[in-house]
Amino acid sequence: MVKAFNFFRLILVLSIGLFFLSIIMAVQGSSTEVSRHNLMPVPAKISFEQGKLPVNSEFRIVLTGYQEPRLKRAARRLIQRLSIQTGIYLLYEVEKDASKAILEINCQGPGEKIQSIKEDESYTIEVNSSRAYLSATTPVGVLRGIETFLQLVTLDSEGFHIPAVKIQDKPRFPWRGLLIDVCRHWMPAEVIKRNLDGMAMCKLNVLHWHLSEDQGFRVECKSFPKLHEMGSDGNYFTQHQVREILDYARDLGIRVVPEFDMPGHTTSWLVGYPELASAPGPYQIQRFWGVFDPCMDPTREKVYTFLDTFLEEIARLFPDDYFHIGGDEVNGKHWNKNPDIVAFKREHGMEDDHDLQAYFNKRIQAILSNHGKKMVGWDEIFHPDLPKDIVVQSWRGQDSLAKVAAEGYSGILSHGYYLDHILSASRHYQVDPLDRDAAKLNAEQKARILGGEACMWAEFVTPETIDSRIWPRAVAFAERMWSPQNVKCIKDMYRRLEKADRNLEWLGITHRSNYPKMLERLVGNHPIDSLKVLADIVEPVKFYTRPHTHEYTQMTPLNRLVDAVRPESNKARQFRNMVDEMLADTPNYMTNKEIIREWLTEWRGNNSILRPILEESFLLNEVIPLSEDVAALAEAGLQALDYLGSNQRPPQSWLNGISSLLDRPEKPEYELEIMIIPAIRKLIEAALSLLVSHNFEDSDAHGWGVEYP
Ligand code: ACM
Repeated sequence: MVKAFNFFRLILVLSIGLFFLSIIMAVQGSSTEVSRHNLMPVPAKISFEQGKLPVNSEFRIVLTGYQEPRLKRAARRLIQRLSIQTGIYLLYEVEKDASKAILEINCQGPGEKIQSIKEDESYTIEVNSSRAYLSATTPVGVLRGIETFLQLVTLDSEGFHIPAVKIQDKPRFPWRGLLIDVCRHWMPAEVIKRNLDGMAMCKLNVLHWHLSEDQGFRVECKSFPKLHEMGSDGNYFTQHQVREILDYARDLGIRVVPEFDMPGHTTSWLVGYPELASAPGPYQIQRFWGVFDPCMDPTREKVYTFLDTFLEEIARLFPDDYFHIGGDEVNGKHWNKNPDIVAFKREHGMEDDHDLQAYFNKRIQAILSNHGKKMVGWDEIFHPDLPKDIVVQSWRGQDSLAKVAAEGYSGILSHGYYLDHILSASRHYQVDPLDRDAAKLNAEQKARILGGEACMWAEFVTPETIDSRIWPRAVAFAERMWSPQNVKCIKDMYRRLEKADRNLEWLGITHRSNYPKMLERLVGNHPIDSLKVLADIVEPVKFYTRPHTHEYTQMTPLNRLVDAVRPESNKARQFRNMVDEMLADTPNYMTNKEIIREWLTEWRGNNSILRPILEESFLLNEVIPLSEDVAALAEAGLQALDYLGSNQRPPQSWLNGISSLLDRPEKPEYELEIMIIPAIRKLIEAALSLLVSHNFEDSDAHGWGVEYP
């Protein structure tokens, strides 16, 4: 009797336990915990079940429900990519008979003719050991689900499979964009297409196409052909190419918002049409980077007649509801030098240049509205005279965005998402559009914050390097945009990002494959191994340090080590983590010690192998001191390890000898940062058994660009 009672109590306890365990597992999909899958972005809801669905040459798809050619093409791409991912030859046969298919894709309806911010992107996936079922309200939802499905494919000891799983997914924000600047450096169509593929992989849904700048006007304009003929060096998209790219993007469920920056950043327009300018020409395409004086004249009616004709043509070319007018960084110098403009301001009671720009924006907004478009612009366009349907893109931050939303306007965040700042994925990942002042908004105001855009400004990228500056860091941003707000475990993000990094290369992004190629260029006829040892632990300088070190123009080759290395050193991050684990293992510091010693030894010895190669290469001469410093730092790290092992406190003279190594030059000629320094500093501090006198915010303030997650 007692035994039976205990037995039932045991069952009861176990069931309660299982109940809570299942809740924990269901919640884990959207929590701060390390997950058991590779999905990125993490879906809103995910729960794993028992069993797995094998993926082999029998794999077939059936499309049920609503049909359209876009879905067929999506299914074909799914088969192609699955085939590439697994190396298994798969037939593209869309089954008629649902019972014979391994994957059934069910679409309930057509979705929007022109995809908008209201498009339903939700989907569900259910996989058991014999079948997979993907269902969505719209084709765009199907596209999102297909990306998740492909990421579920896993290799184990028995082959490829998809784990049994239930997913219910939808995005957190409706506007998840990537800005690509094709003006500072020209980016041809294939660059845009492969990056659209990358965007689709991580469920980004807006290409913000930055199409005009001081340094280039990049679209064929039939009404005013001197725009592209004289403003582009021949590097522009024909309207036929634009339509091809728009079709390509629509197939991937991506909206395309064109940006034609005005009234500033317009030098390239003024080369062919100086009559639009605030100061007499002639003008030439700008080759330098920065904010320049040339600017349209907002007081002349002819400017609005011109822009009306221009916008009518271009608005017809781009189907999206929104049209970006830039509006940033007008310095007003040419306005204030022009007596007619000064008089106009006085007559109209305008107090400053912002008032004059607001007048210009209001006129442009009316023209755009007339051509069926809603206006988007950077922070600077924000003005209470404008109607509430505009969207403000904030490069200034959440507080500025919150003000916009509080006043009834919609906004998107880009501050914190500038990929050209070359910060870590974790840094972008931790920026949330609804943080800071935006967190204090009410629900209705918060809903006006539509999402954000990562920005790839092109001063320091070429078609060869742009992929590596976008990917994989933009995937971390994409997860912030798509996944629930509480998905924020940085360790797990990096684990999944590594998988995404590989998948992107399968997709045709060149961020990994161009790295060894660029190193090969640098070493001439030598092998790249020793250069790679160095390159793997350095990163380009952060923010806008580069133009302060060298004079850069559009014509400056971007073929140096700073251009070849990847923006975030995985090797240095691994090293930091290993050192942290070792130092937490007191008092003997055994964890990871041998591998740390091995790595430091390699870095110490590398300089003597690399040195002759550096000397022989014009492009590598500048990094001779860098390589020497790495060797000396590694030596200091090894000495610190020895002191730690011997329990002997090193003399102060030792620290004096190495402290200059730790204080890096602020603007090194070679424009690279040594990313193993913070961990070596920690080893040294541990050896000295000092109270940690520099915390890591301090380190970052010195410009090492390092943050510990
Ligand atoms: C900007 O960064 N000026 C938009």
